[in-house]
Amino acid sequence: MRKKKTEKIALILTGVVCLFIIMNKNDTEDEVTSNSKDTYEMPRHQTHLPRSKTPQPLSSRCQQNMSAYNVTGFSTLPGHIQDFLLYRHCRNFPMLLDLPNKCGGPLNSADVFLLLVIKSSPENYERREVLRKTWAKERLHKGVWIRRVFIIGTTKTGFEKRRLNKLLKLENNENEDILQWDFNDSFFNLTLKQILFLEWMERWCPHPRFLLNGDDDIFANTFNMVEYLQGQEDNDGSKHLFTGHLIQNVGPIRHSSSKYFVPVQVQESESYPPYCGGGGFLLSGFTARTIYNMSHSIILLPIDDVYMGMCLEKAGLKPTSHFGVRTAGLHVPAENVDNFHPCYYREIILVHRFLPHMIFVMWDEIQNPHLQCGKTNSSLQGSP
Ligand SMILES: *[C@@H]1O[C@H](CO)[C@@H](O)[C@H](O)[C@H]1NC(C)=O
Ligand SMILES: *[C@@H]1O[C@H](CO)[C@@H](O)[C@H](O)[C@H]1NC(C)=O
Ligand SMILES: *[C@@H]1O[C@H](CO)[C@@H](O)[C@H](O)[C@H]1NC(C)=O
Ligand SMILES: *[C@@H]1O[C@H](CO)[C@@H](O)[C@H](O)[C@H]1NC(C)=O
Ligand SMILES: *[C@@H]1O[C@H](CO)[C@@H](O)[C@H](O)[C@H]1NC(C)=O
Ligand SMILES: *[C@@H]1O[C@H](CO)[C@@H](O)[C@H](O)[C@H]1NC(C)=O
Repeated sequence: MRKKKTEKIALILTGVVCLFIIMNKNDTEDEVTSNSKDTYEMPRHQTHLPRSKTPQPLSSRCQQNMSAYNVTGFSTLPGHIQDFLLYRHCRNFPMLLDLPNKCGGPLNSADVFLLLVIKSSPENYERREVLRKTWAKERLHKGVWIRRVFIIGTTKTGFEKRRLNKLLKLENNENEDILQWDFNDSFFNLTLKQILFLEWMERWCPHPRFLLNGDDDIFANTFNMVEYLQGQEDNDGSKHLFTGHLIQNVGPIRHSSSKYFVPVQVQESESYPPYCGGGGFLLSGFTARTIYNMSHSIILLPIDDVYMGMCLEKAGLKPTSHFGVRTAGLHVPAENVDNFHPCYYREIILVHRFLPHMIFVMWDEIQNPHLQCGKTNSSLQGSP
């Protein structure tokens, strides 16, 4: 009789424990579902990191600028441009992945000689992986530190968005090289991405000597880059430097079929200031901070490299041309010459549009001590 009673109590207890477990499980599921409403939540593993911004509740999300609907011809504009006008004023987005210690903290950030700032997007996993083991490898080279960050927004919605965010979180756990904010990682949000990076830099890495800012599909010869930057006479990063593929005397493209289409509703002026092609350019820490300062008083323009040019112009600084930066690709003179002959890439500092596997091969080949190249070929030094 007594034994039966104990058994009964044990059974009830087990039931209660099971119920408790099930309820808890439901709780975590609820949490996951609430994420799907895109609430802003700091990744849990990072809660120990110092942060000055608290996660923002849904209600503080940036609201549409309703007056944009009243702009002449608004309804005839392509969707992404309408979107741009509606959210043009929004500059604050919650950080999903942060790296406060990337540069050893703000005070030590001058120990970073070259910070590689690479614009990527969630899907571009293969590109990031190959860069990590090739030209963007973090290392001490010729006595100076090269560091790397990828700057990324979010894409997709619902499960897909969460899966991609999980990927980035996993990558970040392994590599500590991702800065991610919760905004739509679209072409017309690239300027926003750049400003968010500069804001992060101001807070956590204010004094890197130099930066490379570029796309995740470039081949960069970071050895040559360090050599070039170390050769800067009396500029340790505290003076102006902004160099790349210089573009001048151009203005907004007004054909609506172009990727770069900027209608008068976005910019009225027919001219852009001089700027460097956004595929990749080099700048000093000083110039990066100056650009950030200027950005506070310049309305966003969707084309990020032009926007950089606007900030420079406002600061009274000029971008310059570097022959080794080929964001428009490399012009190889003869037809029967291999476009990917490593000798061409030994001389340059940056070329746009490389597939991941080609980056891997080229990075190996330019370091081959037995590579036989002629004297610097003049055809490599002309303008692109
Ligand atoms: C848009 O224009 C209408 C008519 O001129 C005006 O009544 C309305 O207040 C405007 N809306 C905004 C948000 O500016
Ligand atoms: C809202 O849009 C109108 C029309 O484009 C613009 O004049 C105004 O400056 C915008 N407001 C903000 C806060 O950006
Ligand atoms: C992001 O922007 C692109 C281009 O404007 C658009 O096609 C896409 O639907 C947007 N994604 C989200 C999740 O808003
Ligand atoms: C930029 O991102 C914000 C936040 O996700 C989004 O609301 C806006 O539509 C995006 N703008 C463009 C032009 O894609
Ligand atoms: C940016 O502005 C801040 C405050 O206005 C100033 O202290 C700082 O020196 C400026 N930095 C540069 C690089 O212009
Ligand atoms: C440079 O390339 C051109 C065109 O292929 C070739 O005619 C010339 O001999 C090369 N010069 C050197 C120094 O290799």
